[in-house]
Amino acid sequence: MQEQAGPGPVGLVLESERIKRRVAELGADITRDYAGRAPLLVAVLKGSVLFLADLVRAIDLSVSVDFIAISSYGEGGGRSGVVRILKDLSASIEGEDVILVEDIIDTGLTVTYLLATLRARQPRSLEICTLLDKSVRRIIEVPIRYKGFDIPDEFVIGYGLDHQGRYRNLSSIIGVRDLETLTADPDSIVTPFF
Ligand code: IMP
Ligand code: MG
Repeated sequence: MQEQAGPGPVGLVLESERIKRRVAELGADITRDYAGRAPLLVAVLKGSVLFLADLVRAIDLSVSVDFIAISSYGEGGGRSGVVRILKDLSASIEGEDVILVEDIIDTGLTVTYLLATLRARQPRSLEICTLLDKSVRRIIEVPIRYKGFDIPDEFVIGYGLDHQGRYRNLSSIIGVRDLETLTADPDSIVTPFF
């Protein structure tokens, strides 16, 4: 992970080529671990969509995908861990080998809720695959089976991750050093190189 020199607006950078290589490794791991099975990848909208799209192409098995959309009450503010399902899965997962695909695990509250919800539907197995792990901010321990990168406590955007709905389309992931400035002026990060 490289750091941009000086007090610029951008902190850590995970370049698209590096993400690509890591996603290929995760796909190879899943292909090996699930040999002879047909896992169902459940992606959490919207942030995980780019990761899912690349990950499924790195898995050499028969896979299915489904989506779930959630909203946390009091987002940005009080983190209660209470999550509301905005869009549920389109089919039963009973007896399926489910892999929950997340963009980032931060406090762990969201994924803990999702795990409980999915487990109650009696899949055959249930594992987590997250691209990013911001473990320093963890409140609840989370059993992460597949992880792309550990990152420090920095707000990140790009490759699906957003700030107020924007920047999901950056090919690389970049850390925002000055979140207040970005919030005040959503255009303050100019990203021609990402
Ligand atoms: P958690 O419940 O604290 O683990 O929150 C996880 C969710 O918060 C993720 O699925 C993201 O939607 C969002 N999130 C946490 N950190 C970041 C970040 O650095 N950038 C963008 N979204 C984030
Ligand atoms: Mg999310």
